[in-house]
Amino acid sequence: MKAKLSALSSYAPEKIITNQYFEDIVETNNEWITSRTGIIERRYAGNDEYTGDLCYKAAQKLLLENPELNLEGTDFIIVSTTTPDHTVPSVSSQLQYRLGINNPGTIDLSSACAGFIYGIILAKSLIMAGTYRKVLVFGADTLSKVINFFDRSTCILFGDGAGVALIEASVEEKIMNSITGTNGGGGQYLYRSSLSPEINGIPVIADSKSHQNGRIVFKWAVQTAINTVREVLAANNTTLKEVDFIILHSANLRIIEAVSAELDYPLDRMPESIRYFGNTSSASIPLAFHQAVLSGKIKRGHRLLLAGYGGGLTYAGILIAF
Ligand code: UT7
Repeated sequence: MKAKLSALSSYAPEKIITNQYFEDIVETNNEWITSRTGIIERRYAGNDEYTGDLCYKAAQKLLLENPELNLEGTDFIIVSTTTPDHTVPSVSSQLQYRLGINNPGTIDLSSACAGFIYGIILAKSLIMAGTYRKVLVFGADTLSKVINFFDRSTCILFGDGAGVALIEASVEEKIMNSITGTNGGGGQYLYRSSLSPEINGIPVIADSKSHQNGRIVFKWAVQTAINTVREVLAANNTTLKEVDFIILHSANLRIIEAVSAELDYPLDRMPESIRYFGNTSSASIPLAFHQAVLSGKIKRGHRLLLAGYGGGLTYAGILIAF
């Protein structure tokens, strides 16, 4: 049994937060934010809007945009998020109820910015094993709810959003080989802790807010993204010439530019969601992917290389024939 990505959608909340918003909160300015990150604006969920709501709206858009689609018969729902509405019950279990899907298995996974790709890999593997035929994979976060608004180096980065992909059994192999990896020794460089006050024996701030050593993570992210692209190419016995688009996790436009330069791969074939959505962690890849589909840039038949990297530190990459 093989797997394909049969439909894709995304949703971002309505509230737009410009860079100027932060000028009143911390010592920063629009010029610094755009030149150091590429971010022009981001979206924040409403006070009473959570990750589960963004997923639900993404699923509704998926159905609106694909009228022939029916979620009935979905065997399994995977939600990648680090900002679930509750620790228990899971976001995925509540989506089962809200979407009215009859008795699927449900699981939330926590691999931060690589999580959407981990979800696709899991979905594909479950289908290839013959366990399931139809799996919904969500990547969603409401990072605005866990921002430390006293820290200028992180508060300007994050935004909220959700993406969803329907992965189904297929005769042709459309979801190809993937790679994954972890450097847990770097866990303390990007974290959100609420219970333990230390990671790897190093004291951390257990205040349930996001904390990051930007400089260290930046260097790791650039090298990891480059390695991931190369490893995915090798795993699929292919070359960059045969890849129509590379979609990296959108953490910083400078990371995408650095990878483009190092691989000598055109920047205009690297769709991103950083400029208008900020860093949306699990949602960033499906947001960029869906925007590029809507604009007509990415079309059916294109070969796409997806790569994510972030908290853990974890990373993952996969090749998809769309
Ligand atoms: O999503 C998961 C993976 N995450 C990433 O890949 C994120 C990687 N990191 C980054 O994107 C960047 O490191 C940041 C955007 C977080 C920071 O940019 P940077 O160019 O690495 O800045 P820096 O941390 O080296 O700081 C340079 C200067 C510092 O001032 P001094 O020490 O040189 O006086 C910072 O205090 O910029 C200062 N700074 C700011 N200035 C104005 C930091 N944040 C701000 C700010 N406005 N918002």
